[in-house]
Amino acid sequence: MSCRKLDGAAAAAAIRAELAPQVQAFTQRCGRPPSLAIVLVGDDPASAVYVRGKERTGSETGLRVTIHRLPKETTLDEVLTLVKRFNGDAECDGILVQSPLPAAMGQDAEVRVVDAIDPARDVDGLHPYNVGLLAQGRVRMAPCTPSGVIELLDREGLPIAGRHAVVIGRSAIVGKPMSMLLLQRDATVTVCHSKTSDLPAITRQADILVSAVGRPGFVTSDMVKPGAAVVDVGTTPISDRALAVRLFGEGSPRVSALAARGSIVVGDVHPSVAGIAGALSPVPGGVGPLTIAMLLKNTLAAATAREQSTRGAD
Ligand code: GUN
Repeated sequence: MSCRKLDGAAAAAAIRAELAPQVQAFTQRCGRPPSLAIVLVGDDPASAVYVRGKERTGSETGLRVTIHRLPKETTLDEVLTLVKRFNGDAECDGILVQSPLPAAMGQDAEVRVVDAIDPARDVDGLHPYNVGLLAQGRVRMAPCTPSGVIELLDREGLPIAGRHAVVIGRSAIVGKPMSMLLLQRDATVTVCHSKTSDLPAITRQADILVSAVGRPGFVTSDMVKPGAAVVDVGTTPISDRALAVRLFGEGSPRVSALAARGSIVVGDVHPSVAGIAGALSPVPGGVGPLTIAMLLKNTLAAATAREQSTRGAD
């Protein structure tokens, strides 16, 4: 069976090209670009790479993206104070506090930080107010990765309504909002997680299979229905050559890339799934670029909504 590549990089480029003139128009109307404040606490290397990608792509699209880097010793109160400052800044449209926060900040740090973000500036779509609207089918700001998956399916012409979509993972940032967005598009949705029994029996029923567990090669070909659309949300950096060889085979370009760079990012879906799926999103170049494109889209939407509400108050 021939497997179509779901080209997230191309879809993301198309979204950014659509956004650029809207960003330009906003900038002309308001005398400033839509602006996004990103808070990065600590020195998690993967987070540093993601945040740089958001800054670079945002700037290329005409947004003002500022990264606020804080040392790993920063206290939760200090982060909350910064978030409150952004909430009161008339020229700040979007706030994103990069996860994970350092473990020393405490188990509930991420929840406390998200709760403190003004819902109108919550471009991650994680504030309980925005999650509630999403659950009610009144989406205002949806989390970027799952909304990127929907964009990818739409732009690749893959129907959602009436399909059985199986989501592996129930995180607040991907699995849960993914299931709600698919449900809203009239898919029949099953959410699987670490306590699901006989996972392959369920995933084999999926017309659309979305994996967001963060375990390299977790989804194997015996778990996939022939012809299914498989979306790989996993992005795990690996530096273990033996693991790369197990996944991709000796002599593969990915193993050479690991040798050259010291690490590579791999998805949840085992490469052998390409032999059975009808469509598959690669890692890298699948959902990752779409996450950033949707962040920019949410930031523009937040800026425009704030512009309109300010005008309404005049
Ligand atoms: N860490 C990994 N992905 C994300 C994301 O989309 N938003 C935030 N805030 N942190 C992340």
